[in-house]
Amino acid sequence: MSNDLIKGEEKIIGVNGEEPKNPKRRDFLVQATGVATGIGVGAAALPFIESMKPSADVMSKATTEVDIAGISKGDTRTVEWQGKPVFILHRNDAQIQAMAETPDTKDPQDDADRVKKPEWLVVIGLCTHLGCIPNRTAEGWFCPCHGSAYDDSGRILHGPAPRNLDVPRYQFVSSEKILIG
Ligand code: FES
Repeated sequence: MSNDLIKGEEKIIGVNGEEPKNPKRRDFLVQATGVATGIGVGAAALPFIESMKPSADVMSKATTEVDIAGISKGDTRTVEWQGKPVFILHRNDAQIQAMAETPDTKDPQDDADRVKKPEWLVVIGLCTHLGCIPNRTAEGWFCPCHGSAYDDSGRILHGPAPRNLDVPRYQFVSSEKILIG
């Protein structure tokens, strides 16, 4: 049998063609290299994982705080939330009363299910047809793109829009402030 063979194992040859004095050392080196590679990959992945976290800037834009104290009854204010317009309507008594009845439309919904307080309507200002921004009218909103009309609850009255204006997630953080998002 050749001297190069080690029974049941791979032949191990040293730098100068001789067997290393301690073959186990090679196993350790191989394992250590594997561990070191693992640590290296882990360390390299950390900045990558960190970069996947949303930045403080993005987090701050995830919500929009709006001071509603300056919106008079009957007036609307448009604010931006996550790059979208949001309509905030401070409804007066007549508007609240007019919305109490649910119109027979393609997307019937009670006004009470669309607001947290009767005097405040908060809706995303994008037409549910193809996303144009509707204009404020005396009766609600009208989308000039293809003629969809919405009432003071943001409910579709007529036109090609398939559903009511969307209500974003929001909460009253005080009587004068809402947090959208
Ligand atoms: S996008 Fe508003 S009616 Fe078409």
